[in-house]
Amino acid sequence: MTVIRGATTIAEDTPDEIRAAVKELLEQIESRNALKRDEVVSIVFSSTSDIHSFYPAKAAREAGFESCSLFSAQEPDIEGGLKFCIRVMLFVEKNETPRHVYLRGARVLRKDVAQTFCVAIDGPAGSGKSTIAKLLARDYNILYLDTGAMYRACALACLRAGADVSDEAKVCDVLRSTSPDVVYRDGVQHTMLGGEDVSDAIRAPEVSMAASTVSKHISVRMKMVEKQREIASKMSCVLDGRDIGTFVLPDADFKFFLTAAPEVRAKRRADELAAKGYEVDLDALLKEIVARDEQDAAREIAPLKKADDAVLVDTSSMTIEEVLKTIKSKIQEKI
Ligand code: DC
Repeated sequence: MTVIRGATTIAEDTPDEIRAAVKELLEQIESRNALKRDEVVSIVFSSTSDIHSFYPAKAAREAGFESCSLFSAQEPDIEGGLKFCIRVMLFVEKNETPRHVYLRGARVLRKDVAQTFCVAIDGPAGSGKSTIAKLLARDYNILYLDTGAMYRACALACLRAGADVSDEAKVCDVLRSTSPDVVYRDGVQHTMLGGEDVSDAIRAPEVSMAASTVSKHISVRMKMVEKQREIASKMSCVLDGRDIGTFVLPDADFKFFLTAAPEVRAKRRADELAAKGYEVDLDALLKEIVARDEQDAAREIAPLKKADDAVLVDTSSMTIEEVLKTIKSKIQEKI
């Protein structure tokens, strides 16, 4: 008899989240241990007290573990312990060395069998990068870093100061006096300028092209890239941008390049802006998006470009769920 251990985390305590996380964990344990269902004698779950502890066992039954015994228990609270965590032990009729499986946020529990990992998502404006990056970060319980927000904050600071965004020296002066930064509160990124939270202000349409222009300057890029690398070196995260897979994290564990037809991307941006209360002219937006992509792709330093080892996903006619599924299945193949 052998015991295989594992753990995973969820973002919130709902039956659907528990079901999906338990299914993923058990599937990974089965495939990594070449396990057959009838070799499983019993499964013992324990969950942190913020989770409805009855559900993991129910989810395992629903996932097809029909004949083994199932137990679910609630763990006592441990100060500083992981939140929303489901642990599991499978007692199996097998003698091979077990391969334990730690997924999502639970990877931190076993650094020896699970390391931190980074996902790079690059692509042009409106390709769906940020939507997908946010969902991935939620599902894997890892950090999301929106690198475009950093360039947008620089651009906003210049626009407010009346500085010419194409003048590198002037942009640097503004940067020195305003220090754009990103901070995290409850896992959500906030973009700061001085002490002000500018997370909404940086989404104004006039900031987009200015951000593309400030991002051409090497001194601006190096400042931003340094910060991005520092954040990514400390924890598992998903970064979206233009140069993540090619320049910021050339050794990222997973690289994706999302794209879509310009008309589709313009429509998505228009819907996004309209939802925020901006008046939008779709034709003008299309022209601006095309011009911005050209500028981002033509610049000398770290241009918008697919890394040779990135997986290309054309999202033109895909739903968000389809894109997310495609990306997660690619990640799952490797971990
Ligand atoms: O992703 P976004 O639309 O928020 O990005 C705004 C601009 O910032 C984009 O046109 C180019 C620049 N940018 C960049 O040069 N490198 C990144 N990693 C992210 C954004």
